[in-house]
Amino acid sequence: MDWKQIYEERKMSADEAVKKVKSGDRVVFAHAVAESLVLADALVANKENYKNVTISHMVTLGKGEYSLPENKEHFTFEGWFTSPSTRKSLEQGHGEFVPVFFHEVPKYIRKGIFHVDVLFVTVAPPDENGKCCVGVSSDYTMQAAKSAKIILAEVNDQVPYVYGDCFIDVEDIDAFVETSHPLFESKPAKIGPVEEAIGKHCASLIEDGSTLQLGIGAIPDAVLAQLGDKKHLGIHSEMFSDGVVDLYEKGVFDCSEKSLNKGKMIATFLMGTKKLYDFADHNPIVEMRPVDYVNNPEVVAQNSKLVCINACVQVDFMGQICSECIGTKQISGVGGQVDFVRGAAMTHDGLGKAIIAMPSVNVMKDGTKISKIVPYLDHGAAVTTSRCDADYIVTEYGIAEMKGRTLHDRARQLIDIAHPDFREELKEQFKERFNIPY
Ligand code: COA
Repeated sequence: MDWKQIYEERKMSADEAVKKVKSGDRVVFAHAVAESLVLADALVANKENYKNVTISHMVTLGKGEYSLPENKEHFTFEGWFTSPSTRKSLEQGHGEFVPVFFHEVPKYIRKGIFHVDVLFVTVAPPDENGKCCVGVSSDYTMQAAKSAKIILAEVNDQVPYVYGDCFIDVEDIDAFVETSHPLFESKPAKIGPVEEAIGKHCASLIEDGSTLQLGIGAIPDAVLAQLGDKKHLGIHSEMFSDGVVDLYEKGVFDCSEKSLNKGKMIATFLMGTKKLYDFADHNPIVEMRPVDYVNNPEVVAQNSKLVCINACVQVDFMGQICSECIGTKQISGVGGQVDFVRGAAMTHDGLGKAIIAMPSVNVMKDGTKISKIVPYLDHGAAVTTSRCDADYIVTEYGIAEMKGRTLHDRARQLIDIAHPDFREELKEQFKERFNIPY
């Protein structure tokens, strides 16, 4: 049958589409901006039809209503990452969290460790070849599309048409729900003097011709703000956002010295504002690849002068880095942090650098400040990046180098870049911790 006929025949409302989900199924949501909020809402609105439906995904930008206690008879949330809307369900004990490296998620799906009954995804309208572009996500979404028994797609005409491994054939999609609305926008973060100082320290570690991986938020934006004078930078990143577009337009990110995928900005998902989505649309410079390629440490390692920059919650005196919990409370996930930290360490040219950057203190809601450099991680906190993997740690007060350094040296360097208000206390804790004078 002609793909146009298939498309017409499978067009339906969101309420009709979610009838294809059966009790006991696992529904996987496409990642981040590719998640279909319309289908997620319809699933919850029709909850009386389901028992024991498991919902899994990494970053969600939706309301996470399926994870609320009042819906627990109908849905179980089993997250591979947690976001503000799903954190509560884990805290209250009725949601579950699965620790996993981002680059391994497609493999887990292929092997059935994460089986997928139904995929909910947002796509662009089919192109002239009957292929629907996911545009803003390749990551695990593409493997989920290959493995799912059923694919339900929201077809939003505002999804950019991005090149790479991010197309699903019309024939493979079981229901099309047409919509037209702007994509989720993650506005550039506010950069204050602390972030600016962190950005400057990170920029001092980035040579011309480097290839970068950057996360999202104030720190990556602050680093990008300091890169205006650099030359021939490249992108091989889990994701990128608006700041990269500005520097591409200034000629900083020309990708001309990349040792892998020269001339291309490689990403596995996109999250920014309309400016980023418009930039990526029909742009041959941007290429989406699955996360088991982009984040695979063996692939990351093939990039010359690779610098990855990620954030964290706490660092202890030994250089153990927690980036996903506050004590026992899971606030995000491992994501791609360790994928890139290890890839940087394995780089073929030996020049890779893994930076973990953070403000020296966290300002709590009541205004009190707590040091992010601590003698011991909070009770129950997970180590995201181990002390053997830790490389550069940056705060607004400087750079601490971990590779090849003794525990005492690590702790002293970290105290030197801690907030001055906490340094004396940390020195006392050093004496207690190591049983030697500071
Ligand atoms: N003690 C107590 N609370 C702390 C804290 C600390 N030391 N450090 C941070 N927090 C709290 C903040 O108050 C904030 O709480 P809120 O959400 O209730 O406001 C929350 O933790 C997040 O901190 P914030 O500074 O706003 O984080 P961020 O948005 O810059 O994200 C990480 C930082 C570490 C959570 C995030 O980078 C992450 O999830 N990393 C792991 C995955 C990863 O690195 N992926 C690769 C890049 S995409």
